[in-house]
Amino acid sequence: METHSHDQDPTKPVVLITGCSTGGIGHALACAFAEKKCRVVATSRSRSRMTELEHDSRFVLEELDVQSDESVRRVVDAVVGKYGCIDVLVNNAGVQCVGPLAEIPLSSVQNTFDTNVFGSLRMVQAVVPHMATRRKGKIVNIGSVAALASGPWSGTYTASKAALHALTDTLRLELGHFGIDVVNVVPGAIKSNIGDSAIASYNRMPEWKLFKPFEAAIRDRAYFSQKLKSTPTDEFAKNTVAAILKEKPPAWFTYGHYSTVMAIMYHLPISVRDFILKKVMNG
Ligand SMILES: NC(=O)c1ccc[n+]([C@@H]2O[C@H](COP(=O)([O-])OP(=O)(O)OC[C@H]3O[C@@H](n4cnc5c(N)ncnc54)[C@H](OP(=O)(O)O)[C@@H]3O)[C@@H](O)[C@H]2O)c1
Repeated sequence: METHSHDQDPTKPVVLITGCSTGGIGHALACAFAEKKCRVVATSRSRSRMTELEHDSRFVLEELDVQSDESVRRVVDAVVGKYGCIDVLVNNAGVQCVGPLAEIPLSSVQNTFDTNVFGSLRMVQAVVPHMATRRKGKIVNIGSVAALASGPWSGTYTASKAALHALTDTLRLELGHFGIDVVNVVPGAIKSNIGDSAIASYNRMPEWKLFKPFEAAIRDRAYFSQKLKSTPTDEFAKNTVAAILKEKPPAWFTYGHYSTVMAIMYHLPISVRDFILKKVMNG
């Protein structure tokens, strides 16, 4: 493991974060943990996506693809080898995916679940033995308010996040026996690269048949969280890190534009919710 980490304080928590590409939530979380003097292992599929952190001694950088057993094992072993522990795991890596469920290629659905759901679980399974031995640790899964009201065009993504929310609830109960706290961080609309990444994947999908007339609405959905009012990434990260580092972190932490609206949507009668989603998403 490459180290620029001589400035790291050995008494501070070791935090491992997935998906730390510049401009995204993981990157901002890495910086916010470092501000709190944590020892941060920032990871991304490619180091070239984290160049801003490259020569900063507060970070250790690693390449990690959450879809790969080998990659996850290598990095977790390296972190435990270097520090002897992992105090906080943040499962942040994730992809948005847009397209009508009746026509979207199953390979796109599988890729979304492989990253958002199985990727997070793969990380959990790799770090839990280390945390359980010390009877100490925090696992943070980054969910989404989108899972609270599943509208048109992003069913793949919302289903993956709903699955992650369910896994998180179960993990909290199961891992509580071993002194491990599990936190569901549920962002609202936060500034990041998520729209651009979703469109890049979308552009590789085939033309729709029945759903061709909805092309503009579907593309729009990819950028829904990135409109004018989205919450600045740093603000989200600062507040989230403060919640995670509490001695008793909350089971559920939501922050950002639309987080209150979506919590209300969740409790609305289905007919009202459908009416609103249809109007907003041109569904
Ligand atoms: N932004 C929002 O409004 C919002 C709202 C709710 C939830 N979220 C969630 O927040 C998390 C971060 O997303 P973001 O908004 O910051 O989007 P982003 O800027 O696109 O960041 C996503 C990160 O995940 C990484 N990633 C994708 N596939 C991966 C894989 N197989 N292995 C490892 N890393 C992988 C990406 O790496 P590359 O750079 O290599 O693609 C990138 O670093 C996601 O879980 C997302 O669902 C975001």
